[in-house]
Amino acid sequence: MTKAHKQKRLISFVSQKGGVGKSTLARLLAVGAAHRGHKTLLADFDLEQLTCVEWNATRMRNSVEPEIDARPFKSLKKLHKSEEEIDVIVADTRGLADEMTKELAEDSDVVFLPTGTSSDDLRPTLALARKLAKQGAEGRIVIVLSKVGRSEKQLSHAIAAIEESGFELLAEHWPLRDGFQSELDAGRAGREAHNPYLREMAERMENALMKRATPKGT
Ligand SMILES: Nc1ncnc2c1ncn2[C@@H]1O[C@H](COP(=O)(O)OP(=O)(O)O)[C@@H](O)[C@H]1O
Ligand SMILES: [Mg+2]
Repeated sequence: MTKAHKQKRLISFVSQKGGVGKSTLARLLAVGAAHRGHKTLLADFDLEQLTCVEWNATRMRNSVEPEIDARPFKSLKKLHKSEEEIDVIVADTRGLADEMTKELAEDSDVVFLPTGTSSDDLRPTLALARKLAKQGAEGRIVIVLSKVGRSEKQLSHAIAAIEESGFELLAEHWPLRDGFQSELDAGRAGREAHNPYLREMAERMENALMKRATPKGT
């Protein structure tokens, strides 16, 4: 036997809707994985917006370390071809339940579905979760409550709806805070937030995502 090679992970963020935090959490996780020493690829499948690719250009202009490898991808085939030397692939997608989303979900080790807490957001999220589960992603689907405001009532209503659906919910929620936007605008993400309160929230989210996304959680 040759030296045991590290297991490569494909982690994707999908949703039916736009604006739910996919690109934000994908960057948070990619940055976290890179800081932890994983060879990380941030694969941007949203060719309309290229949020992660554009953000990475800002990151490079501002010389934010570590460097992140963020590239646009049109197909899974292309992604698999360029996988050499990579431990963690974080895939950001369009807000669409299209063929690409389906294929990516089938291939991913973990599929995160970020969603707001309102019924307007939860309904399409749970519908997509059911669809992906039917197509073979069952057991790898994790719902993430994202951009969560300060209403306890709204949060507990959302948690109850997800519990009732039977899908897994990530233990940590992503809190809505304006400050995260200026961090992203400066080319930083997640744990790189300068404000210590934001940093702590981001670190908790990173830990929860990593724990679920990689076998050892590190
Ligand atoms: N926790 C948060 N607090 C405040 N704004 C956020 C937060 N997370 C994301 N945003 C903002 O919400 C908008 C949509 O987020 P984004 O990650 O681009 O969603 P998606 O990729 O699902 O369309 C962006 O302007 C982003 O900066
Ligand atoms: Mg996006």
